[in-house]
Amino acid sequence: MEDITDLSFRLTCKRLGADFVFTEFVNAEGLVRNNIKTHRKMAIHPDERPIGIQIYGNNIESMVGAAKHAAELKPDVIDINAGCWVKNVVGCGAGAGLLKDPDYLEKLVLEVVKVTSIPVTVKTRIGWDNDSILILEIAERLETVGIAALTVHCRTRSQAHRGEPDWSWINKIKDVVSIPVFLNGGVFTPDDVKRAFQETNADGVMIARGAIDNPWIFRQARELLTTGTIETEIDPFLRINTCLEHLRLAIEIKEEKRGVIEHRKFYTGYLKGLYNASQIRNNLMKITQYSEVENLLLDYLEQLTVRK
Ligand SMILES: Cc1cc2nc3c(=O)[nH]c(=O)nc-3n(C[C@H](O)[C@H](O)[C@H](O)COP(=O)(O)O)c2cc1C
Repeated sequence: MEDITDLSFRLTCKRLGADFVFTEFVNAEGLVRNNIKTHRKMAIHPDERPIGIQIYGNNIESMVGAAKHAAELKPDVIDINAGCWVKNVVGCGAGAGLLKDPDYLEKLVLEVVKVTSIPVTVKTRIGWDNDSILILEIAERLETVGIAALTVHCRTRSQAHRGEPDWSWINKIKDVVSIPVFLNGGVFTPDDVKRAFQETNADGVMIARGAIDNPWIFRQARELLTTGTIETEIDPFLRINTCLEHLRLAIEIKEEKRGVIEHRKFYTGYLKGLYNASQIRNNLMKITQYSEVENLLLDYLEQLTVRK
């Protein structure tokens, strides 16, 4: 997820049980023009493997060039984004914009597959809108040109992130292809993960927004699937300590002020359901130094413990 799954959050999710993580989508044009900020988005740490670098764009030459740049970092897969709904992305024919022209999408993916020995995967949606749900045809065509796996966000582009995803497409896709198919969309709790596997033959489940609110979802889902119960209890101590660990990682990777400021978007998730959380969040929004965040959160933890 753009602006969310940077290295610090990916490492956090990995520590909390994610099997496979992906970079934010990385702009192909930025890569081929050697934009430093774009290249930085592909930085990989050995501890987060297996990892996919996701690239997006519309121009075949640029996507091929981007795939070559990505391949230099030896990710476990190179993923092509054919699902992003955002206006300025689809406006350039990238992301879900590629769904409007399946012939072109197929050609683009084929050219990328041809230039790398790293497995190429695609993440897409079921279609552009309800009148053009072409996922079965697209899945078959992409398998034929050599993708290693397909992730399907079971909504149309018109739905953006709204409305119920239609997971029933996963089984229909599985009927027409033999590559692994991963389900995405609307998986917010460990129970959703369980239901996704019960209701479909998905080979895996990709979690996006659910991990922002609850990065323990990966571990909890595995517990639920293997033992039938969720053993990891997310108490205030775990919430606050994981939040601080994640922030320390971010600061190691970025510098202090940027790390602290960019961490603000995670407080809603980490402090979810805790007494007086909105007031604490408001106070955290004004802070730019790690030591102040730590003092504030550890004092808060003490207050919560006394209240118990
Ligand atoms: C803030 C944000 C950024 C996202 N960025 C990306 C991205 O870079 N690449 C991508 O494939 N999907 C991206 N997505 C879409 C998610 O990967 C996912 O397909 C979508 O949120 C549905 O899954 P969910 O219901 O589990 O959130 C993003 C979603 C959000 C909310």
